[in-house]
Amino acid sequence: MNFVNEDIVTLNRVTITNLLQEIGTGEVSDEIVAGLQADQKIISSKFFYNREGSLLFEEITRLEEYYPTRTEKGILRQMAPALMKQYKGYEIIELGPGDHSKISILLNAAAGLNLSSMKYLPLDISQPALRSSAEQLVSTFPNLHVEGYAVDFLSQFGSVQREQAAIICFFGSTIGNFEWGSSLELLLNISKKMKKGDVLLLGMDMVKPEPVLQAAYNDAGGVTEAFNKNILNSVNDLIQSDFNTEDFDHLAYFNKERFRIEMHLVARRDLEVHSEHFSKDILFKKGETIHTENSHKYSSRHIHEIVDLTGLQLNQTHTDELGWFAVTEFQKL
Ligand code: AVJ
Repeated sequence: MNFVNEDIVTLNRVTITNLLQEIGTGEVSDEIVAGLQADQKIISSKFFYNREGSLLFEEITRLEEYYPTRTEKGILRQMAPALMKQYKGYEIIELGPGDHSKISILLNAAAGLNLSSMKYLPLDISQPALRSSAEQLVSTFPNLHVEGYAVDFLSQFGSVQREQAAIICFFGSTIGNFEWGSSLELLLNISKKMKKGDVLLLGMDMVKPEPVLQAAYNDAGGVTEAFNKNILNSVNDLIQSDFNTEDFDHLAYFNKERFRIEMHLVARRDLEVHSEHFSKDILFKKGETIHTENSHKYSSRHIHEIVDLTGLQLNQTHTDELGWFAVTEFQKL
């Protein structure tokens, strides 16, 4: 998360609007402090993505063990030509794009359709990432207009105004970071904002053999470990605390009852952490954990529950040969 002071950045064919300032740093530190004072200590996974964390995540997406990104991109390459033809002229909204490699697959397919212009609206928590992606995209696609928003899309999705028919993209199984109840709430909010004919593409990581899941979050090169530990550096910056990454071990395992990978940081010894934002020091017992991430894995049952709750129509479930990942295509009737 980056609270850059600019309210709006305007370049040729690019505007980036920062709505994060409406949230304010006070709420951010309150959220972190409350999480660290809870019985099961927790830091929200949205705080992974400082500059270093975004780079580490990109490195994860290139790991042999981390199957989701390449599998999802394969599915998108397969489906993009027919999809973009069917929804010709729709603007493309993307929640949490990170780098622009996935959306480029759709834009490439659209670019072949001789449209007079294309519009892309990325919504992300990182303003620098929005800006650099936008600059690269408009230089690749000469008729593309980018209207980006720096937002916490969970609470601010509704603030983004638009007119045209849209394809809303929520890739990467980012939805999996939310508890099942909150993810349904978010999808319901999104579906309420959709106009008749609008499409939602939801990337969902599916349940699969446990060793595959375990390996994806415990890579041999230790990149996921570094990513997990870096959340402490990010928190140190946000609340001026004195976490030391060397005091913690990486832990990631599949929680079978709840269909999710859980990541934690485990204290290697009894220790205390200070910050002017704490009413008293935060104490850790050796072996105590901070829960840093949930990554839910889905099955067709979940897809049907989404349909039942939102009333969206399930047009198609696009998947790979092994059924490891799904891009579900919903449409508002
Ligand atoms: C970006 C949330 C989809 O859950 O797989 C990767 C983040 N965490 N390795 C995921 C992540 C550890 C990733 N998402």
